[in-house]
Amino acid sequence: MGIPHLLIRRIEKRDFERVSGITNYHFPHRRATPSKILKRLSKGFDYFVAVVDGVVAGFADFKLMERKVKLMELAVDPEFRQMGIGSALLAKICEVAVREGKSAAYLQVKQSNLPAIKLYQRNGFVITRKVEKGAESFYVMSKSLEI
Ligand SMILES: CC(C)(COP(=O)(O)OP(=O)(O)OC[C@H]1O[C@@H](n2cnc3c(N)ncnc32)[C@H](O)[C@@H]1OP(=O)(O)O)[C@@H](O)C(=O)NCCC(=O)NCCS
Repeated sequence: MGIPHLLIRRIEKRDFERVSGITNYHFPHRRATPSKILKRLSKGFDYFVAVVDGVVAGFADFKLMERKVKLMELAVDPEFRQMGIGSALLAKICEVAVREGKSAAYLQVKQSNLPAIKLYQRNGFVITRKVEKGAESFYVMSKSLEI
């Protein structure tokens, strides 16, 4: 799906405040701040932001591991959802991972998060196992990047 004026690019310092806000809206327990983003960047995590008409509409962060890419968080501001932005962010990360020679992408998602599970399935991810963390159940989902 094409969105006019959608740009997926690496995070820049001027995005830190907005990305912290989107993170805390969706995942309040993270207590994201611009300085935490900076710290994560220095530890090898990377972020892409989705920009629509100059507004950061969503982001995804990830880490290139030895053989695979690990997707960490993905969130799209409610007013920009179901326009293909989540899929575009996933596609960009997979593109970078393929370029870096990684064999697969993987992530963990709450079993109750059906919109996210559908998004990942729609983009080629499959459920590979289930993990229990306290009272919460998660799926590990992965996608082969080998051509
Ligand atoms: C999950 C999320 C990132 C999806 O972003 P998005 O930009 O709306 O996703 P897309 O528009 O690319 O949707 C792609 C597919 O995902 C599925 N999907 C997205 N939103 C959905 C919803 N509310 N209900 C059911 N399926 C949904 C659909 O299959 C959709 O494809 P289709 O419209 O062609 O059927 C967004 O809903 C979000 O930010 N949720 C809160 C944060 C979150 O849960 N993040 C994931 C944590 S692991």
